[in-house]
Formats: sequence, C-alpha cells, structure tokens
Amino acid sequence: MIGAGRRIDARGRAVVVTGASSGLGREAALHLERAGFRVFAGVRDRAAADDLAAAATAGRLTPLRLDVTRADQIRGAVDEVARQVGAGGLWGLVNNAGISLPGPLECVPPEQLRRQLDTNVVGQVAVIQGFLPLLRTGRGRIVNVTSGLGRVALPYLGAYAAAQFAKEAVSDSLRRELRPFGIAVSVVQPGAIQTPIWDKVADAGTETMARAAGRAGDLYAEPFDRFLARLAAQARRSGTTPADFARAVARALTAARPRTRYPVGGDVRLGSLAARLLPDALLDRNFAPLVRPRPDRRPPTGDPGPASGDPGPAPLAPTSSED
Ligand SMILES: NC(=O)c1ccc[n+]([C@@H]2O[C@H](COP(=O)([O-])OP(=O)(O)OC[C@H]3O[C@@H](n4cnc5c(N)ncnc54)[C@H](OP(=O)(O)O)[C@@H]3O)[C@@H](O)[C@H]2O)c1
Repeated sequence: MIGAGRRIDARGRAVVVTGASSGLGREAALHLERAGFRVFAGVRDRAAADDLAAAATAGRLTPLRLDVTRADQIRGAVDEVARQVGAGGLWGLVNNAGISLPGPLECVPPEQLRRQLDTNVVGQVAVIQGFLPLLRTGRGRIVNVTSGLGRVALPYLGAYAAAQFAKEAVSDSLRRELRPFGIAVSVVQPGAIQTPIWDKVADAGTETMARAAGRAGDLYAEPFDRFLARLAAQARRSGTTPADFARAVARALTAARPRTRYPVGGDVRLGSLAARLLPDALLDRNFAPLVRPRPDRRPPTGDPGPASGDPGPAPLAPTSSED
C-alpha cells in the first residue's frame, strides 16, 4: 500500500474534486487523474463537463454535477459516487470550489456576504457532511483549499478573508473530530496564482462599487481601484503555478502521514510567519498605504495620511500577501 518515499499508491483510489471547471480545481483534477486516481470532478454545467472529459487523458475522470450550494446536487453527487465506487468507498475529497467577492466591508451588501460564506464555507461543510460516510468506508482523507488570506486579512477582501479564516477553523475542528475514524484533514493554502478567478474578482469588485456609488463607495473608490489593479498584477507576476498547487494536493492525498497544512508559494509562508510574529499595529501600518487615498482624492474623514517619517510600505510588502 505504501510505495517509495512513503507514499500511498493512487491506483484504484477514488477522489472527488469540487470546482473543477477552471483554474486550480481543473489542474488538480487532471493531475490526480494522471497520477492514477479515479477522479470525480465537480462542475456546474454541461460545457465544463465536456471540456474536462476531453482534456482527461487516462480514462479515469468522471465529471460530476455539483453546485456546492445546492442540497439536491450534493445528494445526487454522493449517490452517484457511492454507486460507482461500491464497497471501496472514497479515498479523497478535495474541497476547492470557491468565489472571491471583494469590496470595502462598508460597501458589501449583506446578501453578498451571505453568498461568499454560503459558497466557500457552508457549501464546503455540506459537501463534507454528504461524503463523510463514503470517506469513512474508504478510510479516506479530506483536503480543504483555503488561502494565505486565511491567516492574514487584507483590507478590501474582508468577506473573502472571513470565509478563508472560517475554512481554516472548520478544518481544525474537523481534523480533531475525525481523528478517531482515521480520516485525516489537510489544508492546502495557495498564494497568488494566475487563474480565471482574478477577472472574476475585478468584475465583482467593480459591480460592488457601482452599487455603492454616490454613497460610501465614493470614499473608497480610488484606493480600491488601485488595490484591484495591484492584486491582478501580483497574480500575473506570481511565480507560483496551478501545477504547484496540483502537486501539493497530490502530496496531501498520497503522503503516508499527511501534514495539516500545505502552503503553496513564498507569499503564503511569509504572510503566515508575519501573522504569527508581528504585532497587529505593525501589520496595520504595513497595509496602510493600500487604503490611503491619493492626497488630491482624500475624503474629509479617515486616515490622516502619512505622518512625518512615515516609512511607507513596510518590509512585509502588501504584495507579498496573497490573493
Ligand atoms: N488563484 C488564486 O490565486 C487563489 C489563491 C488562494 C486561494 N484560492 C482558492 O482556490 C480555489 C480555486 O480558485 P481558482 O483560482 O481556481 O478560481 P476559479 O478559476 O474561479 O475556479 C473556481 C471554481 O469554483 C467553482 N465554483 C464557484 N462557485 C461554485 C459553486 N457554488 N458550486 C460549485 N463550484 C463552484 C467554479 O465553477 P464555475 O466555473 O461553474 O463558476 C470554478 O470551477 C478557490 O477556493 C479560491 O478561493 C485561489
């Protein structure tokens, strides 16, 4: 069962990957299939299912209709996987599906916050609940995809960071609860990686600010636009790739003793370290330039701007925190 390098042999083992239509989930699903796993790849529409099936090369990938916010689709997906895997159960569940809805918290409507948490947190837990009986049968493991933002909450990404912190907490509780059953829970924490999520973030941010225009939105418009541009540039420049992410997921699924956390990218490691070691005041000061309006655009209230001797962005540059 355990191969060279104390790895579990993937062959014959079934895994489910949610949010496999694009970006990191797609890369991971195809990588796991090539690595020998039988992959059930969660998608929300027919076009994505066809695209994935065409890209799969080993004949071991099955698209699975799965919107993580829909109880009927979760039930249907669990039934389908149960039917196909039979007595062997499920080896892995990779909870990757997610959205990122940015905006200054003052401008984020409650329904948008609910959507963020419903997709990234409640949906993920519901999927886990659905598949746990099959994971128990297979003595399998869970891999939850969070983000470096589950350790450091950037301004203007409060809703998303809240979801990522929650996923980290859910993962810690689950890991402790599932220990008696021998079901390991790992977190894979990607840093900034160029995927379609960045265009979606920009669109969602623009929409949020358009709705808040004429009200609080005007107070944030300029630094927020600059922030979005900076995020997109950071992802474009990132040396971390979807393949790096896919390899980390594979490691979590095949390690004889999986780690609790797999950071993917130097920005995540640096951010986690900073969050652990630096006082809040220093982190706040580091992020202050991100939210400070240009002098000619400064609103009547708010950040007073640089004090004399303000060092500007501190050594932990905002761009070194991820997505
Ligand atoms: N890329 C990064 O820099 C980065 C960094 C840190 C963390 N992450 C995390 O990594 C994960 C994947 O991100 P990505 O960059 O690959 O983004 P992406 O390309 O936008 O992919 C997101 C995936 O989630 C799916 N999804 C969204 N809502 C869903 C729902 N209600 N039910 C089921 N699937 C749903 C999307 O499906 P549709 O195509 O149907 O919308 C898509 O397959 C996310 O959880 C994200 O938070 C990404």
